[in-house]
Parts: sequence; C-alpha cells; structure tokens
Amino acid sequence: MRHATAAAIVVFMCATAASKAPAGKQADAPLPAGNPSAGAEIVTDKGQCLSCHPVRDAGSRLGPDLTDVGTSRRPDQLHASLVDPDAEILPENRRYRVVTRDGMTITGRILNHDTFQVLMMDAKEQLRSFSKTDLREHGFVKGSGMPSYREKLRPQELADVVAYLMTLKGVAPQ
Ligand code: HEC
Repeated sequence: MRHATAAAIVVFMCATAASKAPAGKQADAPLPAGNPSAGAEIVTDKGQCLSCHPVRDAGSRLGPDLTDVGTSRRPDQLHASLVDPDAEILPENRRYRVVTRDGMTITGRILNHDTFQVLMMDAKEQLRSFSKTDLREHGFVKGSGMPSYREKLRPQELADVVAYLMTLKGVAPQ
C-alpha cells in the first residue's frame, strides 16, 4: 500500500516537473524520480531541515511547519523552495526585523502586529513583544532566511526530499 502510494506520487511528480518547465526560459533539468524514504533521511540528517522546520512532533519552529506541505504544494514548487528560497515567499513566511532604541536588532517571524505593538518569535524561538514607540526601525526583511540547497544536495537528493515532502499530508498516520 505504502509502495503504491509512493509510486503514484513519483509518477505525478515527473509529469508535473516536466509540464511546468517555463516556455522560453532555461529550465532546470526535470527532476529524477525521488525516493521518499531516502528523502526523509536527508531531511533529518544531511539537510538539517528540522533545525528550522517543524514536521509533526519534531523540529524547531523557526521556519514554516512542513507537516502538511504535501497537500498544498506541487513538486515543482517544493523543488523551487529548495534551490531558490528567495524567489517566492508566502506573505506569512516573510522575515521581520526590529531595531530597538538602544540599538538591539531582532529578526524573526512576525506573529502579530497592530498600530502599537509587534509580536514576533526570535531566532531562539522566544516570543518577543515590542511597543512600536520603543523601536527605531521595524519592517519586513528581503530574502528567505533559508539557505539554498542547489549546491548542498545533488539533483537525486533534491528529488528524494521533494518526494518525501509530497508524502507530508498532515498529522494522521500515513
Ligand atoms: C536556516 C533555517 C532553514 C533551514 C535549515 C531550512 N529551511 Fe526551509 N524555510 C526556512 C524559512 C525561514 C522559510 C520561509 C521563507 C521561504 O519561504 O523561503 C522556509 C521555507 C521552506 C519551504 C516553503 C514553505 C511553503 O509553505 O511555501 C519549504 C518547502 C522548505 N522550507 C523546506 C525545507 C527543507 C526540505 C529543508 C532541508 C533540506 C529546509 N527547508 C531547510 C528556513 C529554513
């Protein structure tokens, strides 16, 4: 059963990756077929993805939760997130930076803000709240905060990671 699902995902992946090559632009070579269990290993070990991302009960909360990323993303989008993280960032995943009046800079995820206050999570996963009148600067930062894996992982490893991410469809057992 597990195997059948994985195979279906891989077939779907290849089809999508091939059909999404932008016309007229030098496209990345189509992804090789990925192996989800090899991908799971890369996510925990070589890729160190859990140092920034939650997946189910594991991982840090600095980056977006990947627990159900397979329900809302296509393989080509996930691949792009890995090799070119700066290219497209969901509004809720943009990084926010504040500089306090005494010159301290804190960068992190913004959780909430209104006219008076900013609530964010800093790089140590601590909740920080600031009154805007105490801030010298505040605003979104360009760029992702996620390193590109284009050079860090081989194309086969990237495909494995994408295949694994596509199996992440929530907290229910797969
Ligand atoms: C240093 C921290 C860090 C590491 C390490 C990291 N990421 Fe990320 N990742 C982020 C941040 C921050 C974002 C949100 C900004 C963005 O979309 O680029 C993100 C975004 C993503 C997204 C897009 C999420 C979405 O919903 O659009 C995916 C997919 C992803 N990461 C997967 C991974 C995988 C897989 C690895 C390991 C191979 C990894 N990340 C390693 C910090 C990290």
